[in-house]
Amino acid sequence: MIKVVFLGPPGAGKGTQAKIISQKYNIPLIVLGDILREAVKNQTELGKIAKKYMDKGELVPDEIVCKIIKEALIKVNAKERGFILDGFPRTLEQAKALEKMLKELDLSLDKVLFLDVPDEELIKRMLARGREDDTVDIIKNRLKVYYEKTTPVINYYEEKGILEKVDGLGDVDKVTLRIEKALGL
Ligand code: AP5
Repeated sequence: MIKVVFLGPPGAGKGTQAKIISQKYNIPLIVLGDILREAVKNQTELGKIAKKYMDKGELVPDEIVCKIIKEALIKVNAKERGFILDGFPRTLEQAKALEKMLKELDLSLDKVLFLDVPDEELIKRMLARGREDDTVDIIKNRLKVYYEKTTPVINYYEEKGILEKVDGLGDVDKVTLRIEKALGL
């Protein structure tokens, strides 16, 4: 059983790798971006609010995303089965909120996996994928928001001594192997 956060810039392959690891080791996967996109698609109250931010590549307010994550951790029975969190936390406030909610649920983080990929490759991958929010302008803003808001999160976990940095360049299979090694799977 492992409790882990996947961190990295947009397009680094977090989603791709988190899915592979989750399926191979039967670990519940919580992908915040997917939960938000589903809410937007279904035009729920939450989805309507989230869309305004997502369409600009901005972050959705903390109160909303923290609530989603707490509900998801309870729903997947994280205490018994562990979890992989993809897309959360992305700000220092969210990292602290996560710590608080894990404590309330009598859980703790084992590791934080940071997938490192240079900007040119990120932009190339996202343009090739072509999701609705994958236009050049939105991608550039997502990267800007990422460097401003998420870099402090990486430092925060590094100081705690639980950050594992993995090179995200190369074939998907090779990256998976590096991740398995880093997580001791
Ligand atoms: P989110 O869905 O999390 O988007 P993101 O951060 O932009 O991350 P991506 O899903 O784009 O990247 P990924 O690393 O998962 O890459 P993937 O595996 O797809 O968030 C979307 C929006 O929701 C945000 O902008 C924000 O508004 C909101 N939001 C989300 N979290 C939030 C939070 N915590 N707080 C507030 N708001 C939040 O890979 C990319 C591509 O590369 C794919 O095409 C893939 O096939 C390809 N690829 C993968 N691996 C490789 C490889 N090794 N070699 C070549 N190609 C590869």
